[in-house]
Amino acid sequence: MQQIAAAGDSRALEDVRVGALGKKGSIAELLKTLGGMTPEQRKTQGPLFNGLRDRAADAIAARKRELEGEALEARLMTERVDVTLPAPEAAEGSVHPVSHVRDELIAIFADLDFKVAEGPDVETDEYNFSKLNIPPEHPARQMHDTFYLKPQSDSTRTLLRTHTSPVQVRTMLAQKPPIRIIAPGRTYRRDYDATHSPMFHQVEGLVVDSETHLGHLKWILEEFCKAYFELPAIGMRLRPSYFPFTEPSVEVDIQCDRSGGQIRFGEGRDWMEIAGAGMVHPRVLEMCGVDPEYYHGFAFGFGIDRLAMLKYGIPDLRPFFESDLRWLRHYGFAALDIAALHESLSQ
Ligand code: PHE
Repeated sequence: MQQIAAAGDSRALEDVRVGALGKKGSIAELLKTLGGMTPEQRKTQGPLFNGLRDRAADAIAARKRELEGEALEARLMTERVDVTLPAPEAAEGSVHPVSHVRDELIAIFADLDFKVAEGPDVETDEYNFSKLNIPPEHPARQMHDTFYLKPQSDSTRTLLRTHTSPVQVRTMLAQKPPIRIIAPGRTYRRDYDATHSPMFHQVEGLVVDSETHLGHLKWILEEFCKAYFELPAIGMRLRPSYFPFTEPSVEVDIQCDRSGGQIRFGEGRDWMEIAGAGMVHPRVLEMCGVDPEYYHGFAFGFGIDRLAMLKYGIPDLRPFFESDLRWLRHYGFAALDIAALHESLSQ
C-alpha cells in the first residue's frame, strides 16, 4: 500500500503492479503456494490471499484514477487558451485533397453500408502476394515494382505494400462473412512521373457473402461514381482484364467527354479507366479461410489520388506530396468543409 501511494506516475505504478500482481509478482507467488497446502490450510489462507490480491488491485486502480486526474489537471493548466485574443483574419492551414477525397469515399461507402478496415504499410510477402494468388515466381510480382525491406532474422520478407489488397486477406482471416469493407490507405511502388508517385493512395473494396455476383459489383461501382462525381447518371463499362486474385477480372471505365481540352464525366463518347475489380478468386477465399463452395465475393480498387485529380482538375500528381504551401492553399479544403452526403460532397 505504501508503494502504491508513493508511485508518482503511471509508469511507477505499473512497476508496482507488476511487482505484486504480475506473473512473478509477490502476491502471485503467494497465490501459487496455495497449491502445496493441505485443504485445511487452504481454507483459511485462500480467502486471505485472494482478499489481499483484490485489495491491492483496487488500490492500484484507485491510484491510477488519481494519477490520471492529476495529469489531466496539469495539462488543463498548461494548455489554457486566452479566449480574449482577437481571432485570426483567415483560417490557417487547409485539408489536403487526398484527405478530403478519402473522407468523401468513406461517406459514400458508409451510406452503402460498408465499414472501414485498415492494414499496415509494411506488409509481409505472404499477405501482399502469396495469399492473393501471386506465388513467388509469378510474373505479376515484377509488375508491382516493390520496395523490399531487409529480411528479418526469421527470414520473413517484408515490403511496403504495393496495393491495399492485402487488407482483403487480413479482413477475411479475421472475420467471418458477410463482409462489406473498404480499406483506404497508403501504397508504394518504384515509379515516378506526372501521374505516378512512389507513395500513393488506394481504396480497396471487398464484399463476401453467400449470394454475390458481378451485377452487385457493377451496381455498387455505379452508385459510387454517381455519388462521387455528383452526377444523376454516368455510363459505365466493364472490360475483361486480369488480376491473379480475381476471376473474372475487369477494368472499370466511366463515360466522359474529352473535347475542348477538358474532361467532363457523365456525357460524351469517350471512356476513362478508373478502377480494377473482379470476383474474388476461389483460391484466395480458400487461402483466407473462407469456403468457396458457400461464399462468393467481389473486390475493387481505386486510386484515391487519381480520383482527386479527376474530380478537382489537378493535372500533376507530384505536387501532392511536396508540401508547397501555395499548392495547398489553392487545392486544399477549408477545415470545416466536412464531406457529407446530405450536402454537396465537394462544396
Ligand atoms: N490491387 C489491384 C491493383 O493495385 C487493384 C484491384 C483491387 C483489382 C481489387 C481487383 C480487385 O492494381
